[in-house]
Amino acid sequence: MFANSRQVDSRQDGVHGCLDAIVRRHLEHPYRRPVGERARAQFAALAAALENDSRPRVLDAGCGTGVSTLRLARLHADALVIGVDKSAHRLRTGQRALDAAGAPRNALLLRCDVVDFWLLAAAAGWRFAAQYLLYPNPWPKPEHVQRRWPGHPVLPALLACGGRLELRTNWKIYADEWCLALQLANIPWHIDCLAEPQLISPFESKYHASDHLLWRVQADSASGPAIG
Ligand SMILES: C[S@@+](CC[C@H](N)C(=O)[O-])C[C@H]1O[C@@H](n2cnc3c(N)ncnc32)[C@H](O)[C@@H]1O
Repeated sequence: MFANSRQVDSRQDGVHGCLDAIVRRHLEHPYRRPVGERARAQFAALAAALENDSRPRVLDAGCGTGVSTLRLARLHADALVIGVDKSAHRLRTGQRALDAAGAPRNALLLRCDVVDFWLLAAAAGWRFAAQYLLYPNPWPKPEHVQRRWPGHPVLPALLACGGRLELRTNWKIYADEWCLALQLANIPWHIDCLAEPQLISPFESKYHASDHLLWRVQADSASGPAIG
């Protein structure tokens, strides 16, 4: 079961034809979605807890069971790695691993919709040293282009949170869509295919074991657009 993941199946055979216009519109018009009270309270509690924490912050967006969060914590030993996911079930598994003896102490998990998290973090002026987006659900139907992060209205807030971006996916079109969005935001990017992947997350391991090509887009969003 582990090594038989299916390739992403989509009616798209390249970057979505409307993505250029969608990204331009989103870059010009800040996302005004109201953030719920629960997310506000969670973010406020986290911000208060970190008030005197001067460590660089690293975000693991859509961290699932937190396996990648722990790996990233070891990789960024001087930083605080924050794993955010909306699944309570997956985070419970992650919290057990985090609480185990020998786990790095520079990681924490937060249950939150990462869209709300990016909006709140950007508004609070947070700047990450790095942001990882590892194997997010690609929403492969063309009509769902705006649910994928490059076409999502939250993109300017995500970019405003700054730092080195690293996106990994087994769907090349999704990686290409990231490159277009970054191009339009004037952020230099680099794409490569992970030849000998240093596996970071469970989905990455699964796709690697299934012989999928694994794509990585890296960018430095330090000069990303500010949101109004
Ligand atoms: C395909 S899994 C990948 C998990 C992990 N990053 C990995 O590579 O193994 C996608 C994860 O993103 C989370 N997710 C999707 N949309 C989200 C959102 N809007 N806010 C927070 N988490 C989200 C899901 O709950 C799920 O855990």
